[in-house]
Amino acid sequence: MCGIIGYVGNKKASNILINGLLALEYRGYDSAGIATLENNEIKIMKDKGRVRNILDLDGYKELQGTYGIAHTRWATHGKPSKENSHPHMDNSNTFTVVHNGIIENYNELRSFLTDNGYTFYSQTDTEVIPNLIHYYFKKIDQEDTDYNNKTNSFENKTNVGNENNYKDKVLEAVVKATNDLKGSYAIEVISPLIPDTIIVARKDSPLVIGTKSDENYVASDIPALLTYTKDFYLLDDNEFAIITNDSISFYNKDLEKYTKEIKNIEWDASSAEKNGYDDFMLKEIFEQPNSVRETIGSRLKLNEACNFDDLEITSEYLKSINKIFIVACGTAMHAGLVGKVLLEKLCKIPVEVDIASEFRYRDPIIDDKTLCIYVSQSGETADTIAALKLAKSKCAKTLAISNVIGSSITREADYTIYTHAGPEIAVASTKAYTSQVVLFAILAIHFSELLGYDNTDITINPDGKTIKLYDIKKDILELPKKISMILEDTSLIKKFADEAYTQKDMFFLGRGVDQTVALEGSLKLKEISYIHSEAYASGELKHGPIALIENGIHVISILTDPSLAKKSISNIQEVITRGAKTMVITNQDLENTNFDYIYKIPETNPLISPILSVIPLQLLAYYISKNKGLDVDKPRNLAKSVTVE
Ligand code: G6P
Repeated sequence: MCGIIGYVGNKKASNILINGLLALEYRGYDSAGIATLENNEIKIMKDKGRVRNILDLDGYKELQGTYGIAHTRWATHGKPSKENSHPHMDNSNTFTVVHNGIIENYNELRSFLTDNGYTFYSQTDTEVIPNLIHYYFKKIDQEDTDYNNKTNSFENKTNVGNENNYKDKVLEAVVKATNDLKGSYAIEVISPLIPDTIIVARKDSPLVIGTKSDENYVASDIPALLTYTKDFYLLDDNEFAIITNDSISFYNKDLEKYTKEIKNIEWDASSAEKNGYDDFMLKEIFEQPNSVRETIGSRLKLNEACNFDDLEITSEYLKSINKIFIVACGTAMHAGLVGKVLLEKLCKIPVEVDIASEFRYRDPIIDDKTLCIYVSQSGETADTIAALKLAKSKCAKTLAISNVIGSSITREADYTIYTHAGPEIAVASTKAYTSQVVLFAILAIHFSELLGYDNTDITINPDGKTIKLYDIKKDILELPKKISMILEDTSLIKKFADEAYTQKDMFFLGRGVDQTVALEGSLKLKEISYIHSEAYASGELKHGPIALIENGIHVISILTDPSLAKKSISNIQEVITRGAKTMVITNQDLENTNFDYIYKIPETNPLISPILSVIPLQLLAYYISKNKGLDVDKPRNLAKSVTVE
C-alpha cells in the first residue's frame, strides 16, 4: 500500500527521500513522487511507475532543498497517472500534501470546496486535503487581527513575518481540515509559509518519526528508516506533530502540546537488506531457523513453566472465558487456523477463526467471556484493527500478536505479545507465519499450564495417542534445527518447480492441521506465481473439486499426522487414478507408493508440524515464480501492509 517518507535536516533531501521510497517499495505501489522546498518554492517531481523514474525527471538533479516529503501510491481513487500521483497541492500552491489511507467522504468535501471556488485536477480523494487546509488557513488568517494590517493575501507573504505564528495557524488549519475527514489518513504537509518544517497527522494509518540530532525523518514504517536511526516516536491516532531539524512537538486535536516517549527499535539495519540473496523472500525463508528460535526466546524452557511475564492474563480470567476468537487476514489468518487446533487441543476452549473483513461486519457473538486474539505481522492491517476495536466495544478482552513493536494493533489491544521474526520485507509472508505458529504453540502451552493441565494426558489425534505438555515443549525446542535440515537441500523442490511452472492450475490437499498448511501453500503459489490453485480438505475432494482433476494436473498433498495417513493416501490414490502428478510432503515412511515425488521432512508433533511442512511449499512458490521470471518480492496488485479496507 501507499508509503510515506519525510526528511528535515541539513543534507540534500531528494537523495534521502528517494532512498526512503526505495526502502518502502516492498509495500506495493504504482506511482511515486517527492516535493522539496527551495527559494520559497515547492518543487514537485512525480509520475506513475517506479521510484527510480523520478531520477530521470527534468530538474531532479538540480534539487537542493534540505527538507521535503515523498510518497509511493497504490491506486484506490483514480488510475495510476502523473496527475493522480502524490504530492498534491491546493489551488494557491501554498500547501503540499502526501496522504496514505482513504478519505471516505471525499465526494462531499469536493462538492463543498467546489462550491467555495476550488478546482480539482486529479481523481484522487487526497486532493481535498490541501484545499481544505487552505480553506481553513485562510479563515484563521483572516480572523487574526494582524491580518487587517496586511495589504496582501497570505499567499504573497511566504517566508515573511512571524514564522511561529504561521506554524500555529497552519497546524490549526490542519487540525480543522482533519476534523472534516472521514476514513483513514497519515499525512505530511509542507508549505513555504513554514520553511524547514513538516506537519504530520494520523488516524488509522501508520506513521512513525525517526529522530537524530539535527535531523528528523518521517515514514509509514520503521524498516524504511533503520539505516538512519533506531530512535522512533510512534504517532497515535488523532495526534499531530510539527517537525523541524532539531525539534518535534506533539499536539492533540485541542491543540494542546505534550511530550511523547522515544522508542528504541532493536532491529538491525542489515535485516532490512538482501545480504547476498536474490530476493527478500528467499532470504526470509532461510532466516526461519533463527526467527523461530528468536520467537521461542526465553518463553519456553523444557522443565519450567512458560514465561509470559509480559502478558497479564490470569488463570482466573482463563477459567472464566467460554470462547476464543482468532481474527486476522491472509497468511496471519492461516497461522490462526493452526492456533485454533493448538488452543482447542491443549486448553479445551472452543476457538473460532475469522477473516477480519468478515468479522467486523457480521455482528459476531462476543461478550466479556470471549477472548479475541488478533494476529498481524505488520500490526497495521486496517480490517484487523477495526475488528479489534469492535470486540473492545463489546467488552471482550483483546490480545494482539504482532511482529512490529508499537504498531497500531498493539496500541489498541488489552494485551500484546510479539513474534521476533525481524523485519519482513517480501510481500509474501514466510518467516512471520512460522513465528506466529510457534508463538501460538507456546501460548497454548502457557494457557494450558494456567488451566492446570501441566501433567494431564492430552489426546492429540483420532487414534487416541496421548502426550504431555513436556513432549510438545521438547519438539518445539528442536524446530530451529529441523528447519535448517529442510533448508540444507532444496533440489527436489526445484526439480518439481521446473516441471510444474507451466501449469495453469494446481491442487493442495491435507487433513486436519495439514489442511491449514495446504491453504497457506496455495496462497503462496497464487500470490507470487499467478498460478490458480485450490486448497481442499482431502476428504472433501470428492464432493465437487475432483471433477477438475484431469490428466497431468499437479496435486501436492501434505501428510504429517500418522493417524490420518491411511485416509490421506486413499485420497491421493483417487487423484492419481484420474491422471494427476503428485508430490507428497510427509514425515512418514511411505513405502511402495506410486507417488511421483515424496518430499521427506523431519518428524515432529503433528500439532506443530505446519512449521516444517510449510517450508517446502514456500520454496515451491518461490522457485515457480523465479522460473516464470516474475518479481517475487513485489507481486502484481498486492501490498505488504493493507492499510485500507
Ligand atoms: C497482505 C499481505 C499478506 C499478509 C496480510 C495480512 O495481504 O500481502 O502477506 O498475510 O496482508 O497482513 P498482516 O500484516 O496483518 O499480517
